[in-house]
Amino acid sequence: MKHSMLLAVSALVAASAPALAGDVSVKRGAQVAITAGCHDCHTAGYSESGGKVDPAVALKGASLGWQGPWGTTYAVNLRLIARERGSEDDFLTYAKSFQARPPMPFYNVHAMDESDIRSLYQYIVSLGEAGEPTPEYVPPGQEPITPYIVIAPPIMPKG
Ligand code: HEC
Repeated sequence: MKHSMLLAVSALVAASAPALAGDVSVKRGAQVAITAGCHDCHTAGYSESGGKVDPAVALKGASLGWQGPWGTTYAVNLRLIARERGSEDDFLTYAKSFQARPPMPFYNVHAMDESDIRSLYQYIVSLGEAGEPTPEYVPPGQEPITPYIVIAPPIMPKG
């Protein structure tokens, strides 16, 4: 009796305990996706909802464009990317070296701990069906057919 209560209590504690830095787990990956800001752009509606992760659309990308001198980019579907890259090791190599157009902060991903990248991969794969690709990149001077946010060059003070 005492023993089973103890087991129940430790199971509860385990379920609510935060994932620790250095862990490689889906739970840690879920936390990293939030704290590293990946949902901000790669999960449709995340920012608008005040930070609610909808598991149906989490990291499937967004069809809201980001327009600047580079053209118009879309935060891609990371579920598809994880599958295209293949294994966890392949994803790690890719995450440490890929380049992307603005406003993707790819240099931040390069700087992530290996354990966090592995956890992120496991979390992305755990989310289930991959879904559809986001709209194609639109080169400068061409008009996108989706809504988009304009990031203009800095406006300098006169004089
Ligand atoms: C400010 C918005 C923003 C944030 C924050 C962001 N991304 Fe992105 N991401 C983008 C956009 C836009 C693209 C598409 C860039 C392009 O078309 O070259 C992109 C592209 C990528 C790609 C490249 C896919 C390819 O084509 O090879 C990866 C991988 C990626 N993001 C992962 C992440 C991860 C992991 C995080 C969290 C650490 C993150 N992104 C945070 C906007 C963002």
